[in-house]
Amino acid sequence: MPLVTTTEMFKKAYNGGYAIGAFNVNNMEIVQGIVEAAWELHSPVILQASAGARKYAQPAYLKHLVEAAVEATNNEIPIAMHLDHGADFEICKSCVDNGFTSVMIDGSSRPFEENIAVSKQVAEYAHEHGVVVEAELGTLSGVEDDVNVAAENAQYTDPDKVVEFVEKTGVDSLAIAIGTSHGAYKFKPGTVPHIRLDILDEIVKKLPGFPIVLHGSSSVPKKYVDIINANGGALRDAVGIPEDQLREAAKRAVCKINIDSDLRLGLTAGIREHLQAHPDHFDPRQYITDGRAYVKEIVHDKIINVLGSENKA
Ligand code: G3H
Ligand code: 13P
Ligand code: ZN
Repeated sequence: MPLVTTTEMFKKAYNGGYAIGAFNVNNMEIVQGIVEAAWELHSPVILQASAGARKYAQPAYLKHLVEAAVEATNNEIPIAMHLDHGADFEICKSCVDNGFTSVMIDGSSRPFEENIAVSKQVAEYAHEHGVVVEAELGTLSGVEDDVNVAAENAQYTDPDKVVEFVEKTGVDSLAIAIGTSHGAYKFKPGTVPHIRLDILDEIVKKLPGFPIVLHGSSSVPKKYVDIINANGGALRDAVGIPEDQLREAAKRAVCKINIDSDLRLGLTAGIREHLQAHPDHFDPRQYITDGRAYVKEIVHDKIINVLGSENKA
């Protein structure tokens, strides 16, 4: 099985009441940690690259790392390669032309009609090339690349607009804003977050059978924040999305759940813990190994506790 699109994954996930994890990749050890967990649990997985990842690692390296993951797992699990938050037609086209099997066009900060126009343009091009498209309606708060959307400017997705949007654009899945947000510092300490499953339900009524995507779905596990802070770090208290609420969303129409910040915390926690215990070490293979182990542990936990995608490969 070479890289696959998400079409089949989403169909099975929707009908089976689970979701596929879409994990951001920036280097080899992150790819390995994610894929080893998915392979062990026999779970499909989406590896996604943001503009920042492409700038950091270069598109060619990312592409070949993801292809290496397919080879290293003996083609035993479905792996899709996805562009995260494509800003315009050009970047989506370049990814379609370079082997991605799925792209996101993020027109969510544009006026409704403009979002429709650019999403439709991407969908037409991608579909001609056998690639699937995710678009977004509604705005999440938080930080993604250079865009920082303040909470007061975030907007829940309007259920009355989703049918028109999907029909006019022809996209394959829709990212919605129901209270999740990007980054590790999602809510003030002491806040009890509630994602708006009621809005999700309204959207599902309007778009039965249509795959929904949740961005900003890190739960910011205290374990890794504590490890970082116990080993020389100085992270503020952070509150993420409760895993039981994400699990609920996955049981409904949410077929793709995006996680990046938690992996960053895990990698950093492992590296800090290692260097604190072994201040004389300077071989990256020693300390990154521990970071990679936490990435794997986190993805393992997500598959079991949030996604429900074990043994669905
Ligand atoms: O949604 C944003 C992702 O977490 C990617 O973050 O743009 O810093 O790579 P990045
Ligand atoms: P987190 O920052 O919550 O991990 O969200 C990642 C994301 O939505 C990537 O597109
Ligand atoms: Zn996102």
